[in-house]
Amino acid sequence: MTDHLETTLLAEINAADSLDALDAVRVKALGKKGLVTGQMKGLGSMSPEERREAGPALNQLKNRINDAIAAKKAVLETAALDARLAEERLDMTLPVSPRSQGRIHPISQVLDELSEIFADLGFAVAEGPHIEDDFHNFTALNIPEHHPARQMHDTFYMRPDETGERKVLRTHTSPVQIRTMQTQTPPIRIIAPGRTFRSDSDATHTPMFHQIEGLVIDKDIHMGHLKGCLEAWLSAFFEVEKVKMRFRPSYFPFTEPSAEVDINCTLRDGTLIVGEGDDWLEVMGCGMVNPHVLTACEVDPNIYQGFAFGAGLDRLAMLKYGMTDLRPFFESDLRWLQHYGFQPLSVPTLAGGLSS
Ligand code: DAH
Repeated sequence: MTDHLETTLLAEINAADSLDALDAVRVKALGKKGLVTGQMKGLGSMSPEERREAGPALNQLKNRINDAIAAKKAVLETAALDARLAEERLDMTLPVSPRSQGRIHPISQVLDELSEIFADLGFAVAEGPHIEDDFHNFTALNIPEHHPARQMHDTFYMRPDETGERKVLRTHTSPVQIRTMQTQTPPIRIIAPGRTFRSDSDATHTPMFHQIEGLVIDKDIHMGHLKGCLEAWLSAFFEVEKVKMRFRPSYFPFTEPSAEVDINCTLRDGTLIVGEGDDWLEVMGCGMVNPHVLTACEVDPNIYQGFAFGAGLDRLAMLKYGMTDLRPFFESDLRWLQHYGFQPLSVPTLAGGLSS
């Protein structure tokens, strides 16, 4: 009986032509309701003498079946692997299909460079909405209604909403100063790069352009900190040992005192070199945050002071990378981007990543 069972099962194991078929034989023999299992259950109703003989014999049968299954399994697995290897053979001599490679837009590149420089200086990046309300874009920045400074910005106004409020496309990144001071407690160190909008268009002005704002609020902050900070990031950005700076007294409603900052440059063989020579180039506005602005944000000007600055991001890109016309920045002409764009893999940047 056991002999016959063994011969049948071994034949079936031998005949199994797939792992599934082999497993079916295993279940048939050794599963819960399997034939060998059934016989083992029968041991319980035998007399002790019968059991002494049948028990070891059944155990040995079970072991032989198990061994046969394991051996067959190894054979089938090797065959399956061989078949897969034969099927998946790759022809390494085939030429690869060409992959088109995108470019990093100069604005993204410059934004990455500046984010890294300011991260090293301990600044976080802050953001604000493109559609701003009058309070954040003007009033809180000490530009009340009917103030002549409002005319300095060629503002795009939205249609009045149900309440009669007219939102604006932010004319500068300075409203992010307000939003940051309203939501964070000093010390504050942020840059706010982003899009800005003014109704203006020529070779160096487009209706949409980019600025980068900086804001530092803390105790005992003075103009020396402002100068040191600007010198550090301008030198790092233009990749010179130490850029020469000139502060020209100026006026911005949100800073007092205010200054415009020039850096040294020279023209060599028709190319503008920043950080060398004795000519001057205007790069940004800055100053000590006006106490009215602090008060509007509920920051106590008797405890805290700060400085702020704002620069044109597009202009910084043009100066660093020698582009003279701003308009093609936003025309999405791929030929221009191929020429002026940056290789994603040449320099590790936030936009380009380390690998892709
Ligand atoms: N918001 C100014 C503009 O668009 C630039 C500016 C000047 C920003 C001085 C500042 C600043 O934060 O302190 O012309």
